[in-house]
Amino acid sequence: MIKVNDNYLKLPGSYLFSTVGRKQREYEKAHPDRNVIRLSIGDVTQPLAPVILEAMHKAVDEMGQAETFRGYAPDLGYEFLRDAIAKGDYHSRGADISADEIFVSDGAKCDSSNIQEIFSLHSKIAVCDPVYPVYVDSNVMAGRTGTYDVETERWSNVIYMPCTADNDFAPELPKETPDLIYLCFPNNPTGSTITKDQLQVWVDYANKVGAVIIYDAAYEAYISEENVPHTIYECVGARTCAIELKSFSKNAGFTGVRLGYTVIPKELKCGDTALHSLWARRHGTKYNGAPYIIQRAGEAVYSREGREQLKKQVAYYMNNAKTIYQGLKKAGYQVSGGVNAPYIWLKTPDKMTSWEFFDYLLEKANVVGTPGSGFGPSGEGYFRLTAFGSYENTVEALDRIQKM
Ligand code: MLT
Repeated sequence: MIKVNDNYLKLPGSYLFSTVGRKQREYEKAHPDRNVIRLSIGDVTQPLAPVILEAMHKAVDEMGQAETFRGYAPDLGYEFLRDAIAKGDYHSRGADISADEIFVSDGAKCDSSNIQEIFSLHSKIAVCDPVYPVYVDSNVMAGRTGTYDVETERWSNVIYMPCTADNDFAPELPKETPDLIYLCFPNNPTGSTITKDQLQVWVDYANKVGAVIIYDAAYEAYISEENVPHTIYECVGARTCAIELKSFSKNAGFTGVRLGYTVIPKELKCGDTALHSLWARRHGTKYNGAPYIIQRAGEAVYSREGREQLKKQVAYYMNNAKTIYQGLKKAGYQVSGGVNAPYIWLKTPDKMTSWEFFDYLLEKANVVGTPGSGFGPSGEGYFRLTAFGSYENTVEALDRIQKM
């Protein structure tokens, strides 16, 4: 008889953001008179920039003409987009990445969950704690983790690297040697980041122990301070140990449009096997490419007007981040993040658990955030607010929080 993949049965509850969304809907249904403000999932609210719309309209028209119509996209993405990415995100920063090391996809979430497929089931993963839940859940589904301990809220066979106020929310090198290391900077959920020198330590370590770093740089556009690396390939030796994931969701508002990419340098090998060819093989078999219209929209992100328009959009969200940060400080909260990232990480007051604070904030201020414990046990007692709301809602939310 057919059996399910029982690794799925090991997963406790539903996906974090589904639970948060369901709780919000239930509350709104029970209190239809209240205006609930959502500062939970990192979903953008500003419309697409004009230059992106123009590119999409033009591409739509091309699809309506026999001479310019396009069918399946090339497996790894259109050359025009991969060239724009290589120049715009890498060469401009002195990073040696060529267009044919870039794999265009429909977003970093899918890539971050799929990338584990090309590694052995015996690989040991190391994750920051708290962490974007997709990295862990996708490894659970694949069967790479052991069992879930409800007491410790940890999986066996996973190396957790606590990121707390004590280490400035920056992971320390693990005592046990991992095979795959997931890093995300600027960080989701804590909003923290690390310097180039700190990242170099990770690159040197990975090269030394023969591990691969999966580097999620989805929030790179929000870096405002010097000496914070925009790509792991700014570090010496990263080409032999790192895969980088990038998204168009946060820098260009593509959460509903869907576009991202993964970089795998040709030198990156496990034994004699080049990971680039494994991922190319996987892409060819399982993926039909992001739509032409969307890839043209992605190309527009790198145009001069695109850069100018998107800089303003990022500044808009970072102004929200400042509003949240300062508003929370004024209300007496212990706060971090929000300087190089669109997430603000706060300590819950009065020893409340993260979920207690979630309910309290929803009830007293009608504001929805994300409980820190949903990202891992070291997130307990913390809470995340996102800067991706509208400015008006952000100001209103903080006003309500200050009056609680
Ligand atoms: C988040 O809120 O952590 C992110 O928006 C989720 C995502 O990008 O998938």
